[in-house]
Amino acid sequence: MVSTHPAGVQHSGSQYLPQASTSNTSLSPNQELLPLTARVNSDDHLEIGGCDVTTLVQQFGSPLYILDEQTLRIACQQYQDSFKRYYKGEFQVLYASKAWSCLSICAIAQNVGLGIDVASGGELYTALEAGVSPDKIYFHGNNKSREELRYAIESGITIMADNWHDLLQSVELAEAQHPVRMMLRMTPGIDCHTHEYIRTGHLDSKFGFDPGDLDEVFTFVSKQQALNCVGVHAHIGSQIFERQPHRDLAALMVQWLTQATSYGLNLTHLNVGGGLGVKYVESDDPPSIEEWVKPICEVIQEACATENLPLPKLLCEPGRSLIAPACVTAYTIGSSKMVPEIRTYVAVDGGMSDNPRPITYQSVYRAVVANRMSAPLTESVTIAGKHCESGDIVIKDAQVPKTKPGDVLVVMTTGAYNYSMASNYNRLPRPAAVIVANGEANLILRRETYQDLIRQDCLPQRLKS
Ligand code: LLP
Repeated sequence: MVSTHPAGVQHSGSQYLPQASTSNTSLSPNQELLPLTARVNSDDHLEIGGCDVTTLVQQFGSPLYILDEQTLRIACQQYQDSFKRYYKGEFQVLYASKAWSCLSICAIAQNVGLGIDVASGGELYTALEAGVSPDKIYFHGNNKSREELRYAIESGITIMADNWHDLLQSVELAEAQHPVRMMLRMTPGIDCHTHEYIRTGHLDSKFGFDPGDLDEVFTFVSKQQALNCVGVHAHIGSQIFERQPHRDLAALMVQWLTQATSYGLNLTHLNVGGGLGVKYVESDDPPSIEEWVKPICEVIQEACATENLPLPKLLCEPGRSLIAPACVTAYTIGSSKMVPEIRTYVAVDGGMSDNPRPITYQSVYRAVVANRMSAPLTESVTIAGKHCESGDIVIKDAQVPKTKPGDVLVVMTTGAYNYSMASNYNRLPRPAAVIVANGEANLILRRETYQDLIRQDCLPQRLKS
């Protein structure tokens, strides 16, 4: 099948390149399929951050996560600039590190002035090891263990109290003279249209205090010397394109601040969570980072003026929109199978272990053949992973040029919830990741080895032959 443009012009991988030049920092990365520095070089190869992707695969092997530093920094900067522009009070952008937690990414976030949202002791450890300052770390989770809470409290970070268990344990663990700094996560009862597994704002959610508990929670917190409750938090879900739910959320949250005053609570922080979507395929049309930030700021400012409340310190915690568009995954094409009159499978050297999103959420992706960027997209094939599972499909019906073993297939927008959800299924070593900038590539994650795979295995003496 020949894929053509309505005017009859053949498409090629180059169609996915960002439209403006690399010096143009006004593109919102979450509205692009490829990182902002992507270009095609004179060998007709895809280049990112000044590095030839085909050469990177020769050097570092595949599958390979390739993270473009400039795209990540621009996305962080756009959040910061938008708040500076539209919010008259203080603000703090946090990176939701569940999207991809590792030392280098936390270090970049810290370097550009972002704080970090962590959702486990492991993410907290990573952020601290990366040098993130504890006063910029916020700890989420609907079932924090006592050890995690103790670690968080001793580290001096802020606890996002999700439920009574968190509140009661924090009171027990608080050290004399050192009240635990916390914010309250509420379930806002706001619905949005996204995959049911990644919706969190509707009432039937495992996260946060039910709105019906507000009175009891405010009463409890206001009487506890051991707790220093500074504000409220809510997160309605992820990969959201609609604009209204976050406006509704902002208005509702200001009401919570007003309600808190009648309990003698002076809540000065308001965290609207994350959730801005990204473009995975051409038809995805998320708002830009600025278009997401602006109405939230406006609604909060208007509502505070009406309620006669001072402006709270405004926090948000994007994950996907910061990191997803900055990264691609490069695979090497191997075998193929033609099923007459049904489909052709083309297999790559990774799959559901490095990107579990297609099998988990039926997520769709786009890919290019990095070593033949201007070749016309003449084939419609199904890109299969290498796992022993029929559902291990990376992309159904991908439009690609004619492929051969050894070609480098690049799947785009893979920075969020890929590495962080990667597994060792079939005992595949997890891929390496490199960060690219100005023609230089540095490892940020070493490829796992077979020795790494058995590192935690124990072989009791009596089982040894
Ligand atoms: N804050 C909280 C409390 C969250 O639970 C999340 C994401 C975020 C912030 C960041 O949301 P983002 O800006 O990335 O949309 N594994 C799923 C996504 C799960 C999202 C979990 N929470 C996926 O691959 O689509």
